[in-house]
Amino acid sequence: MAVTVASAPAKIILFGEHAVVYGRPAIAVPISQVRAEAIVEDSLMHGIKLRAPDLGRESWLTEAQDSDPFARAVQIVLETAPVSRLPDLTITVRSTIPIASGLGSGAAMAAAVIRSLAQHLGLTDLATDQQVSALCYQVERLLHGTPSGIDNTVVAYERPVFFVRQEPSNRIEPFTVATPLHMLVADTGEVSMTRDVVEDVGRRWQKDPEKFEQLFNSCGRVADEARMAIRKGDPKRVGRLMQENQVYLREMTVSSTRLEQLIAAAILAGALGAKLSGAGRGGNMIALVDKENVDKVRNRLLSAGAKSVLISVLT
Ligand code: MEV
Repeated sequence: MAVTVASAPAKIILFGEHAVVYGRPAIAVPISQVRAEAIVEDSLMHGIKLRAPDLGRESWLTEAQDSDPFARAVQIVLETAPVSRLPDLTITVRSTIPIASGLGSGAAMAAAVIRSLAQHLGLTDLATDQQVSALCYQVERLLHGTPSGIDNTVVAYERPVFFVRQEPSNRIEPFTVATPLHMLVADTGEVSMTRDVVEDVGRRWQKDPEKFEQLFNSCGRVADEARMAIRKGDPKRVGRLMQENQVYLREMTVSSTRLEQLIAAAILAGALGAKLSGAGRGGNMIALVDKENVDKVRNRLLSAGAKSVLISVLT
């Protein structure tokens, strides 16, 4: 019986989170060593069974709640390319991406499910990066309300992207990295729901649009400059721009004491720059380090209380 497997990586936002929701440029990169995987198998039982063994979950598609992102990812494929008869399948998801930590676990899970199901059903038009990203965006909307679209883009394309949310279609520019960038991704252990933080920033923006528009403009400018610095191979400048972006994120009130402690620890240990990544108020921070400093900064982050530290080299 046929089995189809597809996977999608975690992601980090290097520059421009939150401001990207308001149409400013942002930069995101995949973290390929932690991934979500979906396995689609033909089944002898009638219907589509959804399994998430890591979460101890198993249910039939027909019984799943409307708010279930796993079921939504499956339904979106079936709605987009209606099949004459619903197939009998078991779909299993597994993931090594920590949830609710700014690493795009939901987007990666949805992308893996959409791609594997589309491939399994022979719907090759839906299995392209562009289509996987577009369908994944629909699932992201269920999870996050008003997502910018950057998370689904970077996990579907699995390449560093410069992204601008715009009509009629987003600006998506994969870009090259001149000098490898050594990044550490440290988990505060604080759970943070992207939807709540994005909504709160929205309320604050409505209360004080002038201040927030200025902050978003500054973040957008930093993302523009960072792309040039990354292209030129100037990690020191990239690090300084991360520091600057963090100042604006702090002013947006999306940092936290734990994030600030880890950022300070990384800088004291010699990181070129550090900032929160993703929605903030918990989740992960990222630090850019010289190659020879990776172990030192990693150890300092762990002794400052990081729950885990991933090493990722952006090439
Ligand atoms: C979440 O990874 C990044 C945010 O900018 C939200 C979004 O872009 O949808 C906070």
